[in-house]
Amino acid sequence: MKTQLAQYFFEQYHHQPTVIVRSPGRVNIIGEHADYNNGFVLPAAIDKAAYLAVSLRDDQEIHLTALDLNEKFSTTVDELKPIGDVSWPNYILGSAAQFLKHGIQLPGFNAVLTSNVPIGAGLSSSAAVECATVFALNHLLKTNIERVAMVAMAQKAEHEYAGVMCGIMDQFASMMGKANQVIKLDCRSLEYEYVPFKLDGIKILLLNTNVKHSLASSEYNTRRLECMQAVEMIQAYHPEVQSLRDATVEMLDQYVLPFNDLVYQRSRFVVDEMERLNQACQFLQDDNIPALGNCMFKTHDGLSRQYEVSCKELDYLVDFVRSRKEVIGARMMGGGFGGCTINLVQEDKIESLINSIKPAYEEAMGLPLDYYIATIQNGTEII
Ligand code: GLA
Repeated sequence: MKTQLAQYFFEQYHHQPTVIVRSPGRVNIIGEHADYNNGFVLPAAIDKAAYLAVSLRDDQEIHLTALDLNEKFSTTVDELKPIGDVSWPNYILGSAAQFLKHGIQLPGFNAVLTSNVPIGAGLSSSAAVECATVFALNHLLKTNIERVAMVAMAQKAEHEYAGVMCGIMDQFASMMGKANQVIKLDCRSLEYEYVPFKLDGIKILLLNTNVKHSLASSEYNTRRLECMQAVEMIQAYHPEVQSLRDATVEMLDQYVLPFNDLVYQRSRFVVDEMERLNQACQFLQDDNIPALGNCMFKTHDGLSRQYEVSCKELDYLVDFVRSRKEVIGARMMGGGFGGCTINLVQEDKIESLINSIKPAYEEAMGLPLDYYIATIQNGTEII
């Protein structure tokens, strides 16, 4: 990967890149739509990553190439702004813009991007590019920004240049991941701990629906607002409640349920999910993997029926594996409306599972089913 990328960079810009950064995609074991509600999440960086080769320029010009798409984009530092249709440059430009916003002088730069994080699969391909960009520029500009502060810059890039008001989970996992560990992250305080995730004979299998719904970002932002609405309804009586993290089921029953059923369903899912994450962490510590798996199925049901961010293809995949003994747990993952399901599966049964689920899905849904066995790897790093 490194040699091929460096060679391609040389062909484009006639000099070697100064730095090549690898920044991974992520999985999330449990704790979905919890980050922007100030709850806990349990993500990990995976073995699929974005790779960004960069060198600074003496002038103000920014030249970007996406190796896989064979596309180019150029602009200047003075003209940094989100661009329309084409999406990938936005992740790089938005990340670069954060340096200016922090009052750091930014010269022009040349960059080549390549990535094997499947796009639109719910594996945070965009967060991977944002983190790679922030990390590379921090290195080249010698700005010594702390990792957690770089996470926040990458998140802002997504808000400002991609228009998705995402929480902090994806960028945090990409930047802070550690091999064979999941991150238990408190999205309110940003305190975190690494929890070993080595399940004997069990692997993380990702099943990609290959559905990319255009609804994803608008519905995501709507869910965020619905959660805020619940908070406001409670706040009238409990001003100390700042987010759904501070809310209880009793509060929802009393102040939301009688007035707005939709907002109740949304916020009830989030409050239940926060409780489920606590239980799941305990099960993981106790090595009670079947119970952890059970939590994942429950999360799926909540995401599908109460939070309504699933789709028929995701539901099909989870329902298919639900009664199979070799599948310990499964659920849709990430923002929703397409992308992957995450499955904990007995390693020696993966092949036979694929052999039955792939043709069945393709026949029923008329879409190809892709799959990846994910391993947990380090976060953003120079290679
Ligand atoms: C997307 C967002 C994250 C998070 C998840 C849902 O991946 O980018 O911040 O909210 O959806 O858990």
